[in-house]
Amino acid sequence: QKITLSVIKADIGGFVGHSAMHPALMDCANEKLAAAKSGGLLVDYHVSACGDDLQLIMTHRHGVDHEPIHRLAWDTFEAGTAVAKELHLYGAGQDLLADAFSGNVRGQGPGVAEMEFVERKSDPVLIFMADKTSAGAWNLPLYKMFADPFNTAGLVIAPTLHQGFRFEVHDIYEHKKISFDCPEELYDMLMFIGSPGKYTIKYVYSRADGTIAAASSTERLSLIAGKYVGKDDPVMIVRAQQNFPAVGEVLDPFRYPWIIEGWMRGSHYGPLMPVSVKQATPTRFDGPPRVACLGFQLADGKLVGPRDMFDDPSYDEARRDANRIADVLRMHGPFEPHRLPLDDMEYTTMPQIMKKLEGRWAKV
Ligand code: 13P
Ligand code: 13P
Ligand code: MG
Ligand code: MG
Ligand code: MG
Ligand code: MG
Repeated sequence: QKITLSVIKADIGGFVGHSAMHPALMDCANEKLAAAKSGGLLVDYHVSACGDDLQLIMTHRHGVDHEPIHRLAWDTFEAGTAVAKELHLYGAGQDLLADAFSGNVRGQGPGVAEMEFVERKSDPVLIFMADKTSAGAWNLPLYKMFADPFNTAGLVIAPTLHQGFRFEVHDIYEHKKISFDCPEELYDMLMFIGSPGKYTIKYVYSRADGTIAAASSTERLSLIAGKYVGKDDPVMIVRAQQNFPAVGEVLDPFRYPWIIEGWMRGSHYGPLMPVSVKQATPTRFDGPPRVACLGFQLADGKLVGPRDMFDDPSYDEARRDANRIADVLRMHGPFEPHRLPLDDMEYTTMPQIMKKLEGRWAKV
C-alpha cells in the first residue's frame, strides 16, 4: 500500500511585516487538519512555519494532485486568511492568487511538493522549507546531495547510490521538462540548473530501483501574477538512507550559505542561512533568507517527529558565514550583484519608472 506525502505551503499573512507566523494561524491550520485526520482523509499531519509561510505537511493514501487534499489545503489557507485579516496581519492572503479553488492549488499561488511511494521498513524523510527565496534555490543543494561525491560519500561507497540518480528538470518559462541521468550527463545538466531562475530540479529518482528520492515546489509567483507579489519561498521533500543519501549527506550541502535570490522585496541576492524553526524569522533587511528542515520517521504513514534538523551547533559556522556574506552584499545597497539583474526587476516597479522617463531620453 502506497503512502503520499504532500507538503503544501502559502504565505497568508506575516507577523510582524514579513518576518514570522502568528500562532493564531497555526492554531487555525491545526484545527482544520485535525478534523481532516479524524474524518479519514489524512493519515497524519504536522503544521509548521518558515518565516511568514504556513507549512502543511500531510500524509494520506490518495496519490499526488488529489483534489480533496488540495481543497483541504486551500480551505485551510482561506480560513487562516480570515484570521490574518482579523488581526490585520501583513499581507493577509498574500499567496492566494486565485479568487476561488479550481481543483488543484498548482498555479494558484501556494507551493507544492508531493510524492507517492511504498513506505520502507524504516523511512526517514526530510522536509525543507525556505523563506525569502525563489523556486530554484534547491538546485545547488540537490546537485550536491545526489551528484557530488565530495558531498555524498555514498555515491562512491554504497553500491545502490553508485548507480547514480535521475534528475527531472523543468523549464518554468516554457512549461517543459527533461531528464538527466547522472553521473554520465552531469555536464549537460549543470548548463541548465546553474540558472535556477529558469531551470529547476523538480524530482530526483534512484537509478538503482527507480524510486522517488526528492520532490520540490517549482511554482513561480511572479510568473503566475505577472508582477512581483512576494517570493516563492519553496519547499522540498527528500528521502534518506538505504538507496538514498544518508541524513547527514542530505543536510551537508547547507553548510555553505549559497547565494540565492529573494532577499528584501524579492529583489536582492542573499546567503541562504540554515536555522532551527524557531530561528526561521528573517528580520535583518527582511532576511537573510532562511532554510529550516524538519525530519520525520514514517510509521505506516504516521509522521513520527519532527526533529528540527538545523537546531545543531554543527551549523553555527554556516550561520556565521551567512552573516558575513550578508554584510558584504548589504554594502552594495541598490547596486548589483546585491540587487537582482535588470530582467528580474521588470516584475517590480521598474516598468513604471521606465514609462515615466520615456520622453526624457536623448540620443547620444
Ligand atoms: P550508524 O552505525 O550510526 O547506524 O551509522 C550508519 C551510517 O553509515 C551513517 O552515515
Ligand atoms: P515574502 O514572500 O516572504 O512575503 O517576502 C516578501 C518580501 O519581499 C519581504 O521583503
Ligand atoms: Mg509575506
Ligand atoms: Mg515568505
Ligand atoms: Mg513569499
Ligand atoms: Mg545504525
